[in-house]
Amino acid sequence: MGKVLVIHGPNLNLLGMREVEIYGTTTLDEINENLRNRASAVGIELETFQSNHEGEIVEKIQGAAGDVDYIIINPAAFTHYSIAIRDAIASAGVPTIEIHLSNIYAREEFRQESVTAPVTIGQIQGFGPDGYYLSLEAAIRRLKR
Ligand code: DQA
Repeated sequence: MGKVLVIHGPNLNLLGMREVEIYGTTTLDEINENLRNRASAVGIELETFQSNHEGEIVEKIQGAAGDVDYIIINPAAFTHYSIAIRDAIASAGVPTIEIHLSNIYAREEFRQESVTAPVTIGQIQGFGPDGYYLSLEAAIRRLKR
């Protein structure tokens, strides 16, 4: 039915151990596994990718152009300052959904701006790992249209 690429930014490889009071105890492997299960149940191809490196994320987004139907991305700290990732999303032309585990608007001032959100379809944030599953549902509903 389509292909979805899920990109996890820096430090998200540490989910489950990292600042658990903010990000919870679910690991990235568990999140990816749940996404894969849901995708395969509805016949969607799903690829997951995590990187701590801005350039690798830029290259992944560039490579998605013409190959992927939707990108789901948690740019993590890059959300707040990576014009390079924003430009990659804007130029790839792949509809993109931004997700954050925490409510970035209820946190430190420097987290309250997303430079990437304006070039996405929309943002889901504050619902913990459910945000990833909700993002995938949004992509599935659009793919079905
Ligand atoms: C985050 C929020 C960012 O501010 C932070 O740098 C992260 C995770 C989130 O999912 O809540 O690494 O993107």
